Amino acid sequence: MPKPNCCLKLLGRWNGFHKSIFMLIILVILLSIATLSKFYSITSLSISDTLCSRVVNIESSSRFSAADDGSRAALETVIQKIRDEMKETGAAASVIPSSRYNAFLGEILELLLVQSLASPVEKTTQIHPLAMRPKHDEAAAEFFLIEEIRKYVRIKPNRLGKQNFMGANGTFTSIGHACFAMKQDLEEYMDYDVGEICKDDWKLAQKLMVHGCDPLPRRRCFSRAPQLYIKPFPITESLWKLPDHRNVRWSGYRCKNFTCLAANGTRKGFFKCADCFNLTHHEMPRWMELKFDPQTNQTADILISDVLSIKPGEVRIGLDFSVGTGTFAARMREFNVTIATGTINLGAPFNEMIALRGLLPIYLSINQRLPFFDNTLDLIHTTRFLDGWIDFVLLDFILYDWDRVLRPGGLLWIDSFFCLKEELDDYLESFKMLRYRKRRWIVVPKVDKDDREVFFSAVLEKPPRPF
Ligand SMILES: *[C@@H]1O[C@H](CO)[C@@H](O)[C@H](O)[C@H]1NC(C)=O
Ligand SMILES: *[C@@H]1O[C@H](CO)[C@@H](O)[C@H](O)[C@H]1NC(C)=O
Ligand SMILES: *[C@@H]1O[C@H](CO)[C@@H](O)[C@H](O)[C@H]1NC(C)=O
Ligand SMILES: *[C@@H]1O[C@H](CO)[C@@H](O)[C@H](O)[C@H]1NC(C)=O
Ligand SMILES: *[C@@H]1O[C@H](CO)[C@@H](O)[C@H](O)[C@H]1NC(C)=O
Ligand SMILES: *[C@@H]1O[C@H](CO)[C@@H](O)[C@H](O)[C@H]1NC(C)=O
Repeated sequence: MPKPNCCLKLLGRWNGFHKSIFMLIILVILLSIATLSKFYSITSLSISDTLCSRVVNIESSSRFSAADDGSRAALETVIQKIRDEMKETGAAASVIPSSRYNAFLGEILELLLVQSLASPVEKTTQIHPLAMRPKHDEAAAEFFLIEEIRKYVRIKPNRLGKQNFMGANGTFTSIGHACFAMKQDLEEYMDYDVGEICKDDWKLAQKLMVHGCDPLPRRRCFSRAPQLYIKPFPITESLWKLPDHRNVRWSGYRCKNFTCLAANGTRKGFFKCADCFNLTHHEMPRWMELKFDPQTNQTADILISDVLSIKPGEVRIGLDFSVGTGTFAARMREFNVTIATGTINLGAPFNEMIALRGLLPIYLSINQRLPFFDNTLDLIHTTRFLDGWIDFVLLDFILYDWDRVLRPGGLLWIDSFFCLKEELDDYLESFKMLRYRKRRWIVVPKVDKDDREVFFSAVLEKPPRPF
């Protein structure tokens, strides 16, 4: 890129001949400086390589005020004039070789625009976020026909224009952007009478969430409950006992009670956890004893006692992001560790089951940022969840989010992750990207599917990071 003084030299040489062009350039410089100092959001400025088709693309931004719009229009006019001039001189023969002249014009343009990008412009005219939001929120409200959605998405200003204790002068209720694509479903979901009992539509709600309408709007109807709620078992019994089926609404499931789920009769919908309602035989031994594969005499299992011994007494709270009935949390509770279990109701009432066992379920889809603050949890455990299907970019976002909530020295326990052999290296790269300290690291073949898959388990420790 030429330095400004070189441009001035060039200017001197052409000064007499192209006086009008010179004036034009000066105009551009002045105008650009004036205008760009007002911009604080130029989202895209691009100049293509070929000189005659230099395209200056200034994306309009909703943040421009009316005054900015005026000067931007003027700037665009001048840029257009330069481009016209470049075309013209490119066609007509001239005393000065047209290519050099064009290059000169191009360089001037480039210099201006690149410099304006390189030095971040001060926000001279700060527009309060609230002052420009209403347009968006109005648009969102106008998009839907059901009055309850419109009411929900509109900003709720505080009464009397006061700021609340959180320093905001309104409340901003939001919905997931996929809600717009799922307009019909959302409208069905939000079509109710205020104060009445809601339809029995948890399945519709979950469908919306899973497909990205997450967060869902809140509602002003009473959710349906089981007809007769029997008091749950005391905590001394509840951890390892199938709950009373009357405490769950079974609409939308093939099984109508927990014994049906435990008997493994229907595996559709929760194939990843066909046995996990069988507390006595299947769930009891998990993480307490190693289960070797009879063929290979190998296992991807890691024992809870083994993991806790890495940091005796230090692991107190954590998250289990898995498909399951909360058995991990139940076991950890016995080790005096409090675990929240994040799951959706995929084919079985997992959330109710976990709650009835006396454990804490978090109804959470994979779409959302975890509802925990940075550097707070001692442990994140995951199993039967991310395996093999997950997009690498998504995995990256999830791992960074987990890293965010784990405290320095916290443990990430990847439990029996499985994928195709040939994809293992790519997945391992994602996990290695965290640069955690490896406390346990196991890769074993998974024998049930033509030997094409492998299991991977690891316990990784988040390092302290300098800042
Ligand atoms: C919130 O405050 C900003 C500036 O303090 C103001 O421009 C805006 O109108 C206020 N919004 C409401 C809803 O009171
Ligand atoms: C559980 O449901 C199955 C059918 O889904 C039924 O055959 C069985 O009798 C039920 N068991 C109990 C204890 O209600
Ligand atoms: C759990 O599985 C075992 C054997 O797989 C079976 O004998 C037992 O009846 C099952 N438990 C329930 C509650 O179905
Ligand atoms: C449940 O299904 C699994 C296969 O996923 C099978 O190994 C197990 O024996 C079944 N359990 C019962 C009690 O039928
Ligand atoms: C399996 O491996 C363990 C050690 O990891 C060994 O003690 C045991 O004898 C092996 N069993 C078989 C059947 O090879
Ligand atoms: C858990 O805490 C209780 C009471 O504080 C204590 O008696 C028990 O030994 C602890 N269990 C473990 C496994 O540390």
